[in-house]
Amino acid sequence: DYLRDENLTQKTKDLISSLPSEKGWLVCQMYQFQGRWHTQALLQGILTCQKHFEAKDSDIILVTNPKSGTTWLKALVFALINRHKFPVYSVIILSCYQSALLVPFLGRSLLRSPDFDFSQLSSPRLMNTHISHLSLPESVKSSSCKIVYCCRNPKDMFVSLWHFGKKLAPEETADYPIEKAVEAFCQGKFIGGPFWDHVLEYWYASLENPNKVLFVSYEEPKKKTGETIKRIAEFLGCGLVGEEEVRAIVKLCSFESLSSLEVNREGKLPSGMETRAFFRKGEVGGWRDTLTESLAEVIDRTIEEKFQGSGLKF
Ligand code: A3P
Repeated sequence: DYLRDENLTQKTKDLISSLPSEKGWLVCQMYQFQGRWHTQALLQGILTCQKHFEAKDSDIILVTNPKSGTTWLKALVFALINRHKFPVYSVIILSCYQSALLVPFLGRSLLRSPDFDFSQLSSPRLMNTHISHLSLPESVKSSSCKIVYCCRNPKDMFVSLWHFGKKLAPEETADYPIEKAVEAFCQGKFIGGPFWDHVLEYWYASLENPNKVLFVSYEEPKKKTGETIKRIAEFLGCGLVGEEEVRAIVKLCSFESLSSLEVNREGKLPSGMETRAFFRKGEVGGWRDTLTESLAEVIDRTIEEKFQGSGLKF
């Protein structure tokens, strides 16, 4: 359902006809809206979200670029905020399928039904999204809700997306050369691109308003998961987390733990997508298996150019 263009309103159809459009990597046709490339369906999700979503001060919104640690972050924050409701070893938070239901995807849930009942979520409401800072619904920016942003090394993110794309859109990607995909990635011309604007918008928002936006990286918790959990807990104001609880959450949310569960190996999301597509290698620096040195250099040059002076290092 990332790719199918369905249920468009007349207003969206009119807007689409006025937007720049291109054929692209992973999709047949994409459209540029508020600086970013989208499929028609994703665009409809954003517009519906901007129109209908009313943030509450107590909301927690997890934001990522695709393939940057969404699955991990969802499990971790769900475990953290619900640790007094469910035992942390509870299977409820381990399933990718469950987390898709328990942590609604802002944009997609609303796309499926503008009447999606957010009130069914217990407080604090936990949601996730790939929407850029610029395109967030106004109420998310004006309320006191909290945003946790997770970014990932762009080469690992590209490689993860490359492999995911083959499962997600086999027909569109079957003959797509990796050199052309790297070029599209570095030009920012792919769904959700450009990746650097997404990262930088949230990075500067976190510097300007550290009580509103917390910026973490996929690599940091891989090395020091316990510290990241404490940092997130402090930011969300969810009390002191004991060492024992931290250890339990680290173990529960690890790649090994989540990916080895039968429900994640064999299950399907409500959209029909196989949950195992979300678990591949979960490595830092795993890009070396897929990218040649020269392709890695192309991405490195883009990273250097786009992140220069930002204080962000990859
Ligand atoms: P790889 O393709 O490099 O293995 P997202 O959840 O944003 O779609 O990102 C998917 C990436 O996160 C995949 O990376 C996947 O293997 C990895 N991943 C999934 N669960 C994880 C976990 N619990 N801990 C660390 N990485 C995880």
